[in-house]
Amino acid sequence: MFTEMREGDNLCCQSLSSLLALLLLLSLLNCSDCKLEGVQANTTVCSEMRKNNCSWVPVLEEFTFIAKSAPFNNCHASTIVEVDKGHFLVAYFGGTVEGAPDVKIWIQTYKDGLWNPPVIADEEYNVSMWNPVLFKLTSNELLLFYRIGQDVQKWSGFMKRSDDGGITWKEREQLPPGILGPIKNKPILLANGDLVCGSSVESWNSWGAWIEITSDAGKSWKKYGPIYIENNPLSVIQPVPYLTANGALRVLLRSFTNISRICMSESEDGGHSWSFAKPTELPNPNSGIDGVKLRDGRLLVAYNTISRGVLKVAVSPDDGDSWQEVTTLEETEGMEFSYPAVIQASDDLVHITYTYNRTQIKHVVLNPI
Ligand SMILES: *[C@@H]1O[C@H](CO)[C@@H](O)[C@H](O)[C@H]1NC(C)=O
Ligand SMILES: *[C@@H]1O[C@H](CO)[C@@H](O)[C@H](O)[C@H]1NC(C)=O
Ligand SMILES: *[C@@H]1O[C@H](CO)[C@@H](O)[C@H](O)[C@H]1NC(C)=O
Ligand SMILES: *[C@@H]1O[C@H](CO)[C@@H](O)[C@H](O)[C@H]1NC(C)=O
Ligand SMILES: *[C@@H]1O[C@H](CO)[C@@H](O)[C@H](O)[C@H]1NC(C)=O
Repeated sequence: MFTEMREGDNLCCQSLSSLLALLLLLSLLNCSDCKLEGVQANTTVCSEMRKNNCSWVPVLEEFTFIAKSAPFNNCHASTIVEVDKGHFLVAYFGGTVEGAPDVKIWIQTYKDGLWNPPVIADEEYNVSMWNPVLFKLTSNELLLFYRIGQDVQKWSGFMKRSDDGGITWKEREQLPPGILGPIKNKPILLANGDLVCGSSVESWNSWGAWIEITSDAGKSWKKYGPIYIENNPLSVIQPVPYLTANGALRVLLRSFTNISRICMSESEDGGHSWSFAKPTELPNPNSGIDGVKLRDGRLLVAYNTISRGVLKVAVSPDDGDSWQEVTTLEETEGMEFSYPAVIQASDDLVHITYTYNRTQIKHVVLNPI
């Protein structure tokens, strides 16, 4: 009896599903009410919702800790990784203020729908830490990259590894001289085992990106570049690497003040040689971006527009050649919503974390139907 009982055979369930359909129809008329929690995807409904921009209403919005509850005043530059279904880690730097000698790398675990309080992932007496980046290898080993140094022009690259999903981390490892590791955004793993990391340098009158590749999970490294705008040595940093439909590699890049656009560069040879960077149509006020190639082939990016007070999400159907703005996550002048980190989880939902006015990290989940 039990095995024969299906949803459609059950009167109660039938009326429940018509109620859901009604609710969906109602929500189609009013996007602001159209949350997708608990509703099974239905392609007809989904494409209607996409047309009406309903899919981009956040499924979840929360802070990773309550305001003023953390052992630091100031935090920035978050990164997120999915360890298992429903189990995430978020890391960021926190201390008195960006660049202060007490700034450490902090990490938080999200499990069973709850955020655990921040714990120290690494610290160095009297020296600031910067821009952590989390990544999970296919072996399930977790990598945590970050930088240590008095300021951006003096920092060096470091990493830690975890074999137990982030419960314990091994000793700090130093990357070879001149290798800084993924500088803000997560790397991508190619089919040939190459881990492609977007790196960059910010020194006097010189801003450019490099691609650092390791084929042995961080033991040895090669770097390729520089990527910059032709005749403009003060141009682009913090690459977001992704693979295009035709197998080329591309990066989206943050650009220096007055370039004012997200830029793009392409490699046809697995990341060894790169074109000059060129502006896309998306704005960029010299502020960090991140993006992810969705499993359905679209490219999604989170970015600031006129200032760090406006944070938006756009989607490209053609690997970054053209864009459609899909939602505004934040819009309050005088506040800072910056440095997004974007992943697509195993259930296809998109998780974005970002700096919330330098005092908290916000976590937003979108359903990219
Ligand atoms: C999807 O929803 C539409 C509109 O409510 C309905 O007509 C259609 O039968 C549904 N399709 C499936 C596969 O459930
Ligand atoms: C969806 O949103 C975008 C950007 O906000 C807008 O350009 C587009 O016209 C919207 N589409 C519909 C059907 O409302
Ligand atoms: C901290 O580091 C700075 C250099 O960045 C140095 O001048 C200072 O003496 C150090 N302070 C202590 C207490 O070690
Ligand atoms: C760059 O932008 C700043 C601030 O908007 C402005 O003051 C400055 O004149 C611009 N510089 C150039 C070379 O356009
Ligand atoms: C955001 O940060 C700015 C700069 O620290 C501060 O002046 C402002 O009061 C903050 N706004 C809110 C709402 O916390």
